[in-house]
Amino acid sequence: MSTTSMHGMWSSRLAFIFAATGSAVGLGNIWRFPYTAGEYGGGAFVLIYLACVAAIGVPIMIAEVMLGRRGRQSPINTMRALAEQQGVSPLWQLLGWMGILSGFLILSFYSVIAGWTMGYVFRAGSGQFAGIDGAGSEAIFGALTADPERLLAWHTIFMVLVVMVVARGVASGLERAVRLLMPALFLLLVVMVLYASQAGDFAAGVSYLFTPDFSELQANAGEAILSAMGQAFFSLSLGMGAIMIYGSYLSSHASIGANAAIIAGMDTLVAVLAGLAIFPIVFANGLEPGAGPGLIFQTLPVAFGQMPFGAFFGALFFMLLVFAAWTSAISLLEPMVAYLVENRGFSRVRASLLAGVTVWALGIACLLSLNEWSGFTIFGKGILDLFDYLTANILLPLGGIFIAIFAGWVLDQQVTRDELGASNGARLYRVWRGLIRWFAPLCVILVFFNAVGLI
Ligand code: PHE
Repeated sequence: MSTTSMHGMWSSRLAFIFAATGSAVGLGNIWRFPYTAGEYGGGAFVLIYLACVAAIGVPIMIAEVMLGRRGRQSPINTMRALAEQQGVSPLWQLLGWMGILSGFLILSFYSVIAGWTMGYVFRAGSGQFAGIDGAGSEAIFGALTADPERLLAWHTIFMVLVVMVVARGVASGLERAVRLLMPALFLLLVVMVLYASQAGDFAAGVSYLFTPDFSELQANAGEAILSAMGQAFFSLSLGMGAIMIYGSYLSSHASIGANAAIIAGMDTLVAVLAGLAIFPIVFANGLEPGAGPGLIFQTLPVAFGQMPFGAFFGALFFMLLVFAAWTSAISLLEPMVAYLVENRGFSRVRASLLAGVTVWALGIACLLSLNEWSGFTIFGKGILDLFDYLTANILLPLGGIFIAIFAGWVLDQQVTRDELGASNGARLYRVWRGLIRWFAPLCVILVFFNAVGLI
């Protein structure tokens, strides 16, 4: 197999860790994790989420990086090439196509939420949050989402930023930005947790997040478990080929297992910190943990409005969150761009533009679903919510099952041993293999069946 990718390579193992962490850490951790945890009552959800990350997420991440590095192409062509090598059906490339579909759908709403975040940089920076209470902060949020023109402007700017980086090539542009901004975001989150521990109701926040109360789940336990698992896939960027293509730019010498553990660890830490920053504020101000997708946009302004230098910290926080979203969005676009370059002979610029414009158009439907089209629902959900639910809870876990089955059952065992650097009888390798062959696919299937009430 080839040892390099035509789209470029990471300059070092560290560059891969930064890029993959950049993909994983994003709105999923800071916007989506707190609001889904809040919707399902906190502790029990968080516990199931953590279990999913460790027992399903990490093994699948290892498998996804491994397939990418073995194939060294876009997920579609990687799957086609690996299937051919193993003498199995070329239909395995459908996994790549499904990933492209997920990428389109996710990025279309992701960009809209990133747009809210951009809007909030200016709202925070101009001091609009000073002394604000819960109701005032809800009003500001409501005014933004009710205004399609503003949403469209921010969505457009964000997509332009994403296309700009992807057009230049991910390996060159991304590295430097992530190296600086990730640690900055992390530090600021720690500052906010410290603030929350002083000014918020920290005890209530901690107990909400870490005291599992399974009776909270009972009414909709199936849904809650499905959402916790979906959140794990979404947050770790698994199941759609983003991690696969980043793996395809990884040198053959790097240790996949160690890298995956580091990436998942950092991603989880950021999500937990976000929860610790937000829920104490929620409880101290009598806000609603189950407020839904607006949660951080309705609660954090209250904190920024009270803390010293809140305008500065607020603007900085939302700015860093925009960067985190940016580095995730890039990885959502990359698989389709790589495919267009490989199979259609497009230049990177043309491929990025085409993919970007398609996503942008789809994003317009998402942002209109917040206002003009709010009456239009499918299964009781507006377009944005529907895309969010469908991708995280169904398409990504489904992609994950196929990745697990391919890596565990189809690929030669010797290939997986070589890729993972496992000598005969290595304990961790055996654990991984057990998880990827049996545990991960079965869990996902059981959770699916359970959620639709079949078991
Ligand atoms: N993991 C990203 C986040 O948490 C979102 C994402 C999902 C990126 C799937 C790539 C693939 O924000």
